[in-house]
Order: sequence, then C-alpha cells, then structure tokens
Amino acid sequence: MPTLPNLDHYWLPFTANRQFKSMPRLFKSAKGNYYTTIDDRVLLDGTSGLWCVAAGHGREEIASAVAHQLRTLDYAPAFQNSHPLAFEAAERVAGFLPKGLDRIFFTGSGSESAETALKIAIAYHRVTGNSLRNKLIGREKGYHGVNFGGLSVGGIAGNRKAFGNGLPGVDHISHTLDISKNAFTRGVPKDGGIELANQFEQRITTLHDPATIAALIVEPMQGSAGVVLPPAGYLKRLREICDKYGILLIFDEVITGFGRMGTRFAADYFGVTPDILTMAKGLTNGAVPMGAVAVKREIYDAFMENTPANAIELPHGYTYTAHPIGCAAAIATLDIFENEKLVERAGSLSANFEQAAHTLKGVPFVKDVRNIGLVAGIELESFPGKPGARAFATYLKCYEMGVLVRHTADIIAISPPLTIEKNEIDRIFSCIAEALTSLEKEGESGLDLTRYLKNEQLWAAHQHERQQQQTALAETA
Ligand SMILES: Cc1ncc(COP(=O)(O)O)c(C=O)c1O
Repeated sequence: MPTLPNLDHYWLPFTANRQFKSMPRLFKSAKGNYYTTIDDRVLLDGTSGLWCVAAGHGREEIASAVAHQLRTLDYAPAFQNSHPLAFEAAERVAGFLPKGLDRIFFTGSGSESAETALKIAIAYHRVTGNSLRNKLIGREKGYHGVNFGGLSVGGIAGNRKAFGNGLPGVDHISHTLDISKNAFTRGVPKDGGIELANQFEQRITTLHDPATIAALIVEPMQGSAGVVLPPAGYLKRLREICDKYGILLIFDEVITGFGRMGTRFAADYFGVTPDILTMAKGLTNGAVPMGAVAVKREIYDAFMENTPANAIELPHGYTYTAHPIGCAAAIATLDIFENEKLVERAGSLSANFEQAAHTLKGVPFVKDVRNIGLVAGIELESFPGKPGARAFATYLKCYEMGVLVRHTADIIAISPPLTIEKNEIDRIFSCIAEALTSLEKEGESGLDLTRYLKNEQLWAAHQHERQQQQTALAETA
C-alpha cells in the first residue's frame, strides 16, 4: 500500500475536498503523454494536465533550462530592475504572435493575465483622454480566471455566486451554444454568427452608450464552460463592432494559445487580431507558473507618449513578473514548438481527432460532440436530479481504464498534448465510449462513488485511521 501524505492541511482548488480525500488521486511522475500514479497506474493524459502541457510531459530541454537558470540567476527584482532573459522571452513570444501584437507584459498565471488585460484596457482609455470609457463587457459562459476582474467579466454562475457582486460597470453578451440547432457539428457551426455578434452592438447601444465601453473580452473558443465554439463569422463581426465604436477587443487565449487549435493562436485560426491577447498555460508547457499579455504596439506607445518623462506609465505588476525561471521555461518551450513543428503537428492531427471524437455520436447519453483543433467537448444527458454525476462517474471509469479525461458539469473535455499519437487519440474516445456503455448498463448504481478506485478508498481509510491513532496518542502523552 503506498504511503499517503497527510491529507489534512492542503485545501485543493476547484475540487470536492472531502470526496477527494476519501479517494485521493495522486500522480507521482509523468513522461511524454502519460502520468504514473502513486500506485503505478499509467494514465494516458487526455487533458494535457489542465490544458497546459502542450509539448508532453517531462521535457528535458525545459528542465535543464530551468535548472541552469536557477543556478545562474534565481531571481531579479521585477520593478525598476530586470534581467536579459525577460527581454529575450518577450521578443520570442512577440515573434510567435500574430503581427502587430508585439509588446508583452508578463504575469504569473492566466488569472493575472486577465486582470492585467482589463486594467491595461481601462488605463489605455484614460491615458488617451477617454476616462469615461471604463465599462467592461464579457460573455455568458466565459472563464477568465478567478480574480475579481476576471470573475466579474466571466459568465459561469457556479464560479460567481459565492463571491458577492464583483466589479461595477460590467455587462455580458450571450454565449454561442445552441445544441438544439448545432448538435454534432464538426468544427464551427456555419450559421447564426453574424446575428449573435450583432446582439453585442444592440446591447451596448441600447443599454449603455458605446462611448462608455473600454473593452470586450472573450475566449475565442470557450474552454472551461465545456468547449463552446464561435459560429462562422462571429469573431470577425465582433471585431468590426469594436472598431466601429473604439472599443478594445481582448482575446483570452489561455487555453486556445500555443497550438491547441492547430494554429499558433485562435487569432490565427479565425483570422481576427484582437487589440490585447492573454496567454498562460502552454507558454511554459505548464512547467513553471507564468502568463503574459500581448498588446498592439499602438497601445504600448500611447502609454509611453502620454505619460510625463520618468513617470511610471503603468502602475501595475507582480513580484514574479518575468521571473527568470519562467522566462527560461518559455524560451525552451518555444524552441520545442519550433524544432518539433508542434503547431503543424496539431493541425495535421485535427482531422483524425475530429473523426475519433464523432464516433461518440450514438453512444449512450451523448447529446453533443463539439470539436476544433485538438479539443473536443462531449456533452452528456444529466442523470435526473444529479447534475454532473454522470460525467464524474465517466471520469472515474476512464481513470480506472487508464485514461485521464476532464469533466465539468456533465461535459467531458478532451485536450491531449500536441505530441499525441493517432492510436492514442482513438484510445481516448473508445475508452469514453466504453465507460458510457457500462454506465448505461449499471443505471443509477453506476453513479455510486464507493464503486470506484477501491485502492484509493482503502488508502484514505487507512490513513484516516492512522491519523486518529496518532491524535489519540498525542492526547494521552
Ligand atoms: C480562458 C482562461 N482564462 C484564464 C484562465 C485562468 O488561468 P489560471 O488558472 O492560470 O489563473 C483559464 C484557466 O483555465 C482559462 O481557461
């Protein structure tokens, strides 16, 4: 029986802690497209960790760049000082982005990138003499991390409801999911994009006054809400409306960046360049926490030109902005992308991936399959009265069968490393089919969590017992 760490003290994020601690799912190592758990289960990674390990796990190039950097310069003060790698990393990231987005602000995560982008947008209008433009527009089902700005423009009720009112001066436009019309569409839905985007114009002209809007922020493809695709023409139309009214368009590409769509960024895929683009995750292949915000040169220049000489142009930043090891990891990651042509690889695998994902049509409970690049969302019919339970049981079954999938509500999301092989793609989707077929046979009893991961439940019970004994001993001592 593997020795478990003491599970009491760590409060896990976005996790049912009590459930987890009764069935701890702990990884001890990872290499290539596979994880190994503490009891030596080998799991094919269908989720790139948390959408972040695009180049596969355990990359030597990143490990040695980070180790070297730690030994050479572990940290340099981020404010009023810097280090050469920060500039090199910014140049490399700028070179990877669509033309025009070439001024880079580094952060520590996707959430910090969202906050930074929103603050830059508001400050940009102020610095250019339009301080009345300070409202922010997000989108239903949007996810922009967990800080107050991102939460406020985000559109997932479950993430928002516990945390009060959020920022004032925020509104939302409609999401683009319509299963009644678009179920099992391959790639982006063909119709309705322009009409949906026009609702944005209608909303800001009817309710606000476009001259009060600083920015619209959207994920080009909504990831966390369950892989929601923009219909054809939608993003282009949003771009036109933003241009018409002088509103900044922000693309949150924390998930869609770094090859996920078979192009470098979703901006490339859709041929729409935002004014500000946020990224994280794939930037360092998930190996070091780091994010970045790219802005158009004109935006950066506006700050430089309209602030008194020697004054700080943007009073914003983090202790870990452009952290040396983050920069080393980002540069090594971009080298891997270049050397292994990972973006092209993802692009050429997309058709196989689509084909494999859509074999799930007709499998029990599957009411929609959505896909683009190397991402798929499989939406399930919820078990009556138990929302989310079916997807959670599917995740556990797949885990037992050696495939890691992600579940949110009753949606399974698949986003493997871009290093995935064709036979591994097939394995992911056939495993999901098998899990759902057996869930159908088992009925409600298939949702009973005590059936799954018996090992893990045993360890947890054992550990709990051990801890109780220790507490009793300590009390009698
Ligand atoms: C689109 C998007 N923005 C922001 C974030 C937040 O990133 P982080 O968890 O690194 O703060 C995420 C995370 O999944 C995301 O998908």
